Amino acid sequence: MKDLTPRREDLNPIEIASRDEIASVQLDRLKWSLSHAYENVPHYKAAFDAAGVHPDDLTALEDLAKFPFTVKQDLRDNYPFGMFAVPREQVARIHASSGTTGQPTVVGYTAKDLEVWGEVVARSLRASGLTPGDLLHNAYGYGLFTGGLGIHLGADALGLTTVPISGGMTQRQVRLIEDFKPKGITVTPSYALSILDEYAAQGLDPRESSLEVGIFGAEPWTNAMREEIEQAFDMHAVDIYGLSEVMGPGVANECVETKDGLHIWEDHFYPEIIDPATGEVLPDGEKGELVFTSLSKEAFPIIRYRTRDLTRLLPGTARSMRRMEKVTGRSDDMIILRGVNVFPTQIEEQLMAVKGLAPHFQIELTRPDRMDQMRILTEAAEGHASDDARAQAAADLAHRVKATVGISIKVDVADPGGVERSQGKAVRILDKRPKD
Ligand code: DLL
Repeated sequence: MKDLTPRREDLNPIEIASRDEIASVQLDRLKWSLSHAYENVPHYKAAFDAAGVHPDDLTALEDLAKFPFTVKQDLRDNYPFGMFAVPREQVARIHASSGTTGQPTVVGYTAKDLEVWGEVVARSLRASGLTPGDLLHNAYGYGLFTGGLGIHLGADALGLTTVPISGGMTQRQVRLIEDFKPKGITVTPSYALSILDEYAAQGLDPRESSLEVGIFGAEPWTNAMREEIEQAFDMHAVDIYGLSEVMGPGVANECVETKDGLHIWEDHFYPEIIDPATGEVLPDGEKGELVFTSLSKEAFPIIRYRTRDLTRLLPGTARSMRRMEKVTGRSDDMIILRGVNVFPTQIEEQLMAVKGLAPHFQIELTRPDRMDQMRILTEAAEGHASDDARAQAAADLAHRVKATVGISIKVDVADPGGVERSQGKAVRILDKRPKD
């Protein structure tokens, strides 16, 4: 793999500023953001008043802990435009979550917000090793989802040549990678695996492709998966994080030269880690729920938004800005199986270590005889599909999960291609337990 480390002089100076400088920018912007939300969004006025706090009560960054949290339900209650802090006419763009689990949540951006979004995504793409003039194959979905259009904004801001292919039509993805020869690909890690399958189906070697870096996010993935993808494509794989409520992709990104967690673009998004049970702010280094406050957003300021993503904050390395560890999962995705907490990423990690299994899986939960049961649906890798090989791989995975996670599971190993493929975010959990 080539060394893609960006030149220091190409970075935005704030990325490598001193901690004091960063904190000073944060404090000024935080004061502005709290007042902006309080004065222009009835929800924030009511919530701050009810908590007995006023934007003037913030004189240091730590004072943010006095302010109330915002949760997804608050956004739903104010559907569609009630959380906007500017007249609708000044909103240049709207995005929304898919709303598969309820009412969609709607977010908005002014023209200036789009500029900031472009800047943080450009930083992310640069941190991943792309430079002006490079060709980018953008396979995140275009539309209400922030992935496709968010990456596109940053690619424009950085000066890349963008192929806005969006998700789906996997044969065509491979064809255009082969024909256009992109240096970078932006895609969910699970869809990258579908593209890999298609390479095999077409008898092509992905290691011979032009790709030098993949920028993967929108769903949790493990370092074991990183190794698998890096080996398969002979390219770097870096992590990009974000969520629509805070902006979209580009809230944080890994640096290609270190791959040691994601630097949060802290001059625009202020992170906190809280104990999800008590709401108490935890010191850096401790694991908990990630909470974000926007520092510069005009159309949709967001104050102490509970992301439900679990991680911890770490000091800066390749940049001065703090890092967040790779997200282990969302608290929503935590499975409690007979008293043991399990995340799909823990299963992924073990599965990747078993010889003879392909990196595709779903977790089925059932409750026969009032006892929760977990079954992993996975599949044999090409060349490992004999009955013996499958039985061995299934036993191996069950054993590893028992030894590391501490739970007994069933494993079914299907033929190669037997597990449903993702076109965007993977569906990892099939919960078939009766709803009480
Ligand atoms: O998924 C934005 C995005 C698009 C990020 C493309 C990266 C690349 P939402 O659809 O609002 O936005 O979903 C946000 O996805 O709270 C996390 O649970 C999860 N997520 C996003 N990035 C990562 C990541 C986009 N790198 C939700 N690792 C977040 C783990 C991630 N989970």
